[in-house]
Amino acid sequence: MSEILRQHAEQQFTEELHELKQQESHPIPENWQLSPQSVVTYLMGGKLKNGFEIKPKYIGNRRLMEIAVATLATDRALLLYGLPGTAKSWVSEHIAAAVSGNSTYVVQGTAGTGEEAIRYGWNYAELLAKGPSQSALVETPVMRAMREGKIARIEELTRIGSDVQDTLITILSEKTLPVPELNSEIQAVRGFNVIATANNRDKGVNELSSALKRRFNTVILPLPATLAEETEIVRSRVASFQTAMKLPAEAPALAEINRIVTIFRELRAGVTSDNKTKLKSPTGTLSTAEAISVVNNGMALSGYFGDGNLNANDLIAGILGAVVKDPVQDKIVWQEYLETVVKQRDDWKDLYRAARDML
Ligand SMILES: Nc1ncnc2c1ncn2[C@@H]1O[C@H](COP(=O)(O)OP(=O)(O)OP(=O)(O)O)[C@@H](O)[C@H]1O
Ligand SMILES: [Mg+2]
Repeated sequence: MSEILRQHAEQQFTEELHELKQQESHPIPENWQLSPQSVVTYLMGGKLKNGFEIKPKYIGNRRLMEIAVATLATDRALLLYGLPGTAKSWVSEHIAAAVSGNSTYVVQGTAGTGEEAIRYGWNYAELLAKGPSQSALVETPVMRAMREGKIARIEELTRIGSDVQDTLITILSEKTLPVPELNSEIQAVRGFNVIATANNRDKGVNELSSALKRRFNTVILPLPATLAEETEIVRSRVASFQTAMKLPAEAPALAEINRIVTIFRELRAGVTSDNKTKLKSPTGTLSTAEAISVVNNGMALSGYFGDGNLNANDLIAGILGAVVKDPVQDKIVWQEYLETVVKQRDDWKDLYRAARDML
């Protein structure tokens, strides 16, 4: 096993990508590694003709993945939009890995992201010594992707200031990146496109200008539709976390994951799963990603400080941390949930006791 803490998708799933290529039976767009159909198989999982099993990466509506992948074969870029923790970054990485064989051309959008992070920058020592030259120019991931015909990824596009966002307009509509200092330009090679992600909940996000919006097809990634779907997402992500971190704990019982996901879904929806009791919702989003961390942290606790079997005591700290983001308001929400829901469920007594001890 590799020493690398987190491998890129194309490293972790080399074998799957290789098999998909071997078994390819559809036309492949120029400079893509696989056909759009195979990219969707890679995302959704499936069995190849030779029996090789592809693991699902995205759990949810297949049509959304088809729309996302088809978009990349057009002249429009792809914007994955939605609440925090709905797999936007995850899907973006896997699509880039499957389409280009490379998911590493990433720009992380922040309030401090400047034009030089999207277009190009300069090695100032060299610039001052010799003036502008090809070797003084510092390429960005976007520039490299254009030159090589690959997918560039822009994370958290709406965190970038609007003026800087707009530098993408020429790149996306003309497929050209002018370098006036060298009196030259980069013309994008076929296969180049952009996947951006943005979430609509966090504070400090900027509007996407309408000029830029028109260059993107937006795919909204929803929260998991059903309890079963969300439980499966958490189960599969926890299983791979456990392998990667080599935790000395047993895989958690499905019922335990089911319970965490139930708590998250009920608090999110503001009503119990039997639709009988109305609940207050906490201020945070309680995303699937947080449910995954709750179970991961619980596993670490049980593996190192418990008996290796995940139980309510290992989970409760994580649940509290996820639910109570605002120490006053959310605490009331949680206490109410504890008394009106958790306490009443016969098979949740252990959780109630663990939660009481924590308050
Ligand atoms: N539908 C889903 N299918 C598979 N995995 C999912 C799904 N929803 C969430 N996840 C998991 O949730 C985790 C978080 O996802 P990710 O970081 O991509 O979220 P995000 O939408 O980019 O959130 P943010 O807006 O906070 O950046 C990932 O490990 C991902 O596997
Ligand atoms: Mg993200």
